[in-house]
Amino acid sequence: MNALRTIEWVGDLDGHVALIDQTLLPERLEILRCADVECIWEAIRNLRVRGAPAIGIAAAMGVVLAVRAAPEDDPQRLIMRIDEACDYLATARPTAVNLFWALERMKRCARGAAAELATPSPPWGEGGARGSVNQIKLALLNEAKAIRDEDAAMCRAIGRAGLHLIREGIGVLTHCNAGGLATAEYGTALAPLYAAHEAGRHFRVFATETRPLLQGSRLTAWELQRADIDVTVICDSMAAQVMRASKVNLVIVGADRIAANGDVANKIGTYGLAVLAKAHAIPFYVAAPSSTFDLSIADGSQIPIEQRSAEEIRRGFGRLTAPEDVACYSPAFDVTPAELVTGIFTDRGLIAPVTRAAIADAIRP
Ligand code: MRU
Repeated sequence: MNALRTIEWVGDLDGHVALIDQTLLPERLEILRCADVECIWEAIRNLRVRGAPAIGIAAAMGVVLAVRAAPEDDPQRLIMRIDEACDYLATARPTAVNLFWALERMKRCARGAAAELATPSPPWGEGGARGSVNQIKLALLNEAKAIRDEDAAMCRAIGRAGLHLIREGIGVLTHCNAGGLATAEYGTALAPLYAAHEAGRHFRVFATETRPLLQGSRLTAWELQRADIDVTVICDSMAAQVMRASKVNLVIVGADRIAANGDVANKIGTYGLAVLAKAHAIPFYVAAPSSTFDLSIADGSQIPIEQRSAEEIRRGFGRLTAPEDVACYSPAFDVTPAELVTGIFTDRGLIAPVTRAAIADAIRP
């Protein structure tokens, strides 16, 4: 099976971003081509590209699109343009820290490239100021591509770290989509499943539908089926029953932001699943790359939770599913307290038990 390439840069500085439009799955696999930053912002906001790592990659590439044709020939002015583009992209969605992590990385890259070019004399090296502006733009493009490639490598490492969990014949429950579609490729929560499948193991995955936008039934089921992995979709409300019927040996989910104490923000419904897993003595694991940890916040109460439009509940996928004018409450994420998390698989190995000290140790810069 070909690995899904969720998002990539095509061509040189004058190229474009190609991403799978996830709003069309599972009906159609279509590539959206973005040549300007507004297209990327809209794709993130409307979940054409979604999942914390993929959002970060999209934002990084969006910065390149925003400034590649900038007329400035003064590096400092270009840096101002870059900061503006980052501020704009940062408004697309609030919860996944990978977005802000990637934007900070792009800003650092630009400043680093500018500082390097400023040192030799004559001041801006060969080609003068214009030449150095182009070099900063090229450095940004390389950084965005590196963020993508590093994410793919981190996902493989998560798969290796979690492989031992996926024993022959077990049942695994996952929520939302933390697979190849949510990352550069391969996924986080789904990475150990792909690794176990590659190792020839057989197991069953229960994918919760994930109301209101159905990332579980539309995306997780689609990509696992495509990989020939045994997957069964359940409505969110069926999880307790499936657990009580002893069909699930472990739960594994992704994360949008993990606080310094191990509290985990992830797709709405994750917290409820963690409570259910505890009630049924089922281990509850999280899988996330180091770019999803936010050590600047002490605990999950400080994680900004995105509120989405009531229309996604009232008129899901084009049909009225609630009275037209009824009030709806629609947080897109919830926070699972660290004490409900058995362990966190990262590209740097397993963090278990989940303590502030263990996280600080594993996620050192
Ligand atoms: O609203 P979404 O679809 O972007 O939410 C995605 C999730 O909650 C994922 O579980 C999380 O981003 C981890 S992706 C590896």
